[in-house]
Amino acid sequence: MTGESINAEVFSAASALSAVNGSWAREKPNRRARRERREKNSLVGARLPMDIKTYLSEKKKLIDAELQAILASEDMPVESLAEGAHRAVLPGGKRIRPILTLASFEAVGGDCPQIVRIASCVELIHSFSLVHDDLPAMDNSDLRRGLPTVHKVVGEGMAVLVGDMLLALPFQTLAELPGVEDDKRNRLIGELARACGSSGLAGGQALDLESEQKSVTEATARDIARRKTGALIEASVALGAIAGDASEETFQKLKEYGSSVGLAFQVTDDLLDAEGEQEILGKPVRADEEKGKAAYPSLVGGKRARQVAEELTRQAIGCLTDLGEKAQPLREIAHLLLRRKG
Ligand code: IPE
Ligand code: IPE
Ligand code: MG
Ligand code: MG
Ligand code: MG
Repeated sequence: MTGESINAEVFSAASALSAVNGSWAREKPNRRARRERREKNSLVGARLPMDIKTYLSEKKKLIDAELQAILASEDMPVESLAEGAHRAVLPGGKRIRPILTLASFEAVGGDCPQIVRIASCVELIHSFSLVHDDLPAMDNSDLRRGLPTVHKVVGEGMAVLVGDMLLALPFQTLAELPGVEDDKRNRLIGELARACGSSGLAGGQALDLESEQKSVTEATARDIARRKTGALIEASVALGAIAGDASEETFQKLKEYGSSVGLAFQVTDDLLDAEGEQEILGKPVRADEEKGKAAYPSLVGGKRARQVAEELTRQAIGCLTDLGEKAQPLREIAHLLLRRKG
């Protein structure tokens, strides 16, 4: 599938939508007009017209169908393992990471029939990370995407194994991708693996646990966010660029974009925990304060946290200057992530 053909498919299937999780679609018209006026003059800059909600919604459909197909082809010998895996993956969230992979692929004008499968691998890693993050031994959370967390449904031991399975599955999927040259496959696997290990997710989650109830610096909070969340978002963008045969220079620019958007994403997640609504988020709020997490708003205050997220978003968009109109979805996504409510 080419970047162009994904776009054609996406836009021809345009439907009245409730955007991703509905949280961006719920905005009232007068509020939207005010926000758009504000954004036009804001630091982050003016937005070009584009139906980004349709874009997101249709990409989400592609990813949802692919994830369903990947899980359907798995041999799961225990019913609760299968139930847990389906619970972890299918009542999906925003799918923002695989959408970033697709948008990055399009930004470099890629041509790779396996791109939706490659993008779905990123979401499997994200799903694994949420199952483990919610466990009693970690954040001890009972609610995810508006539903009981996986360990509440299948038990803690089985939830650990669901996570293990969802961590292995994307690497198996990438290793078995048909029609992809070995060099590209190795780069895809390497990039994703690095995001999961100690320089990424596992290291960030370890620092996150280690920092509970301690006073940490903003630099430490940034390092935690960069590893536990930023690394996978950066890898999501990188995978699209690798699959699309980006030049080294463009690849580095896209990684920089991913790194800034990834960090901004966690700062906003921390802000939403401190100020958001459980009903929209589908997960508990005020949990970071309760657990004494090294979260941005409690460390530096909401105002400074918002400034940090906005500055990172501006930096991210600045990385796309040479990519022109094809990178417009990446710009729009960065804007949306900054003002999301869910
Ligand atoms: C939540 O990620 C966990 C973080 C890394 C902050 P998302 O906000 O992308 O969660 P879903 O997938 O949309 O539910
Ligand atoms: C996300 O951090 C870390 C992961 C890598 C899953 P949080 O612990 O803040 O994520 P939520 O708020 O539970 O989604
Ligand atoms: Mg956590
Ligand atoms: Mg958590
Ligand atoms: Mg959080």
